[in-house]
Amino acid sequence: MNTKISIESAGKTFGDGSIIALQDVNLTVRSNEFVTFVGASGCGKSTLLRCIGGLEALSSGSINVDGVPITGPGVDRAMVFQHYSLYPWLSVMDNIKFTRLLQINREDISSAEVEAASGRADALIDLMGLNHVRNAYPNQLSGGMQQRVAIARALLPRPQILLMDEPFGALDAQTREVMHDMILHVSKLEKTTIVFVTHDVEEAIYLGQRVVVMAPRPGRVDSICPVNLPAQRNQDMKLAPEFMQQKKAILTRIRETAGMHTDRELLERMTRQAEADQKNDMQ
Ligand SMILES: Nc1ncnc2c1ncn2[C@@H]1O[C@H](COP(=O)(O)OP(=O)(O)O)[C@@H](O)[C@H]1O
Ligand SMILES: [Mg+2]
Repeated sequence: MNTKISIESAGKTFGDGSIIALQDVNLTVRSNEFVTFVGASGCGKSTLLRCIGGLEALSSGSINVDGVPITGPGVDRAMVFQHYSLYPWLSVMDNIKFTRLLQINREDISSAEVEAASGRADALIDLMGLNHVRNAYPNQLSGGMQQRVAIARALLPRPQILLMDEPFGALDAQTREVMHDMILHVSKLEKTTIVFVTHDVEEAIYLGQRVVVMAPRPGRVDSICPVNLPAQRNQDMKLAPEFMQQKKAILTRIRETAGMHTDRELLERMTRQAEADQKNDMQ
């Protein structure tokens, strides 16, 4: 196994230490693996992703990439968030090239390198199906298209790791399906290792080779579920009994970790409590 990311006893607290966002998280991600994270709100998914991205420092433990501890952000890791952080005054093409343009201005690099970056931007425009909108501005694009631009921009410096925090959370169901097949294609073609956070269990299973279920208070890894689907996914697989069984099992796990119960269980518990209260009142 070729380890890309290794998370060892990772802990993260906020405030005076009373908010334990992450507790003793241990996980190894292989090179070119697609790992998805699900879990109830507040279980530390975004915090973990930000720590891998180097935007946040751990309180304890370590995260290594290729065996080297993370000390901050780096070009080897790119992030994509739910809200497309595009520059409204730049065209699609310039948005994709923006960080590169900054580097070009800052560093003394050769014209060959500038040309290579332009060629790469063109290739990404093609890959992401953005050719017909390359000169358009973000406000002229649909949400799905804007997120394609954000992904293309993230991929420009050829990051080895793509960290995605609910990237398709704001898109409608049909656009999301298209984006799923697109990102699977991209991950194969670019050989990128992807760590993908979502609250959508179906999305997590469809995309992930493994689904990591996290639990809240304190934020921690509850369980790791390998996904047994053929590498070449297609949308019909979501209807297979094994897919639905796994979805149900993970959903149940998330409910349990969050202390939620089925409506029926909750009703029964409340009824029992009401009966006990009534008895106490009568005594
Ligand atoms: N900057 C911060 N300051 C204080 N508490 C935070 C901060 N970021 C996250 N938290 C807390 O850490 C916990 C995990 O948050 P988060 O990683 O955003 O969870 P998730 O993404 O799974 O919903 C939550 O209790 C949240 O309130
Ligand atoms: Mg989050």
